[in-house]
Amino acid sequence: MASSKKVRACIVGMGIGRPNGRAIAKNPRGEVVALCDLFEDRMRGFAKELPGEQKLYTDYKKMCRDPEIDAVFVGTPNQLHVPIALEAVKRDKHVLVTKPLADAEKAAAKLVEAAEKAGVVNMMSLSTRFRDTCCYLGDLARKGYFGELYYARSRSIRRSGIPAWNLGFIQKGGGAFRDMGVHVLDAAWWILGMPKPISASGVAGAKFGPRGLGYGKFKKVEKKIYSQYAADDYGGGFIRFEGGAGLQVESFWACHQPNEVAMELFGTEAGARVTPIGGQTNVMHLYRTEHDAPQDVAVTLPPGPDSWDNIATHFIECILDGKECSAPLRHGLIVQQMMEALLKSAETGKEVRIK
Ligand SMILES: NC(=O)c1ccc[n+]([C@@H]2O[C@H](COP(=O)([O-])OP(=O)(O)OC[C@H]3O[C@@H](n4cnc5c(N)ncnc54)[C@H](O)[C@@H]3O)[C@@H](O)[C@H]2O)c1
Repeated sequence: MASSKKVRACIVGMGIGRPNGRAIAKNPRGEVVALCDLFEDRMRGFAKELPGEQKLYTDYKKMCRDPEIDAVFVGTPNQLHVPIALEAVKRDKHVLVTKPLADAEKAAAKLVEAAEKAGVVNMMSLSTRFRDTCCYLGDLARKGYFGELYYARSRSIRRSGIPAWNLGFIQKGGGAFRDMGVHVLDAAWWILGMPKPISASGVAGAKFGPRGLGYGKFKKVEKKIYSQYAADDYGGGFIRFEGGAGLQVESFWACHQPNEVAMELFGTEAGARVTPIGGQTNVMHLYRTEHDAPQDVAVTLPPGPDSWDNIATHFIECILDGKECSAPLRHGLIVQQMMEALLKSAETGKEVRIK
């Protein structure tokens, strides 16, 4: 339990930390009491938006020693999620970690073990899984609407969207699959009922990034940046689950195809299609057969809280009310295992078993 009636959080990383921090600050039972980044001006800029005062830290180890912080959001480049979250759990702080959990499976496993041993609330911040449409479909699935869900397709495709503002994205441990594939993989796996993965087979590579092509909005980047490209810019493949279900997943940071984020679910009693998953729309299509005829329903959800609010609320309820966490870091670890197996399969040209 937290030592105060409000969860006193520190936000690490002033990129994705901003929407997560705003949502915690907006929650009546949350407050942002500290910020941590390598750059003070970024922290000062964000602090202007927040209520109250924030301590500013440039050293996460020092921040983790602050007894007036109950919880830490980790939103740095992938390669730093584990060292920072490990330090936080070591100091008994609750942790909320952005996706992907880590840049490699071994590091992810080490963190999960430490967080579970420490007994702190440990949660993934998953903006796709916590989106209203995905929550709605997950709820329908749990209630049996789809019957047995035996197959799914999910994809996240950008025509020209390689991020270049942070080298972590394109260096080892970054890449399109860990950046965007992770979202659609996690959301589809969660809706399928989190079946146990047994193998992955995939292809991946970098066809645009190392040539200086395909960056955000067709922008030119300098050679000194793209020459450091050491990750995938596309990845796709197939995950096989215990019980026979399968998931086809694709992720492209750049390609000659239109932008698309989509998911299709195949169940014995009904199916669903959502596209786009993100953006401003909350529309999805459900398909069933009724009285020997196809029945197609377009569902538009009323506007509700956004993903960040859903994430912050759940994190705070887990800390203050002891609610069971629906997105523990362990889920992030299983998703990491699937991603790393798919990327390994791409490297070796063989199907990879997942233990
Ligand atoms: N929808 C989502 O959930 C979503 C969206 C975008 C990014 N992300 C994730 O967020 C992470 C960061 O991506 P971003 O787009 O915010 O990058 P970013 O470059 O905009 O922000 C990262 C910040 O971390 C800071 N930082 C780096 N090293 C640090 C350290 N040692 N201590 C403290 N701060 C440090 C940087 O200075 C920078 O301000 C990635 O892992 C990415 O996958 C998640």
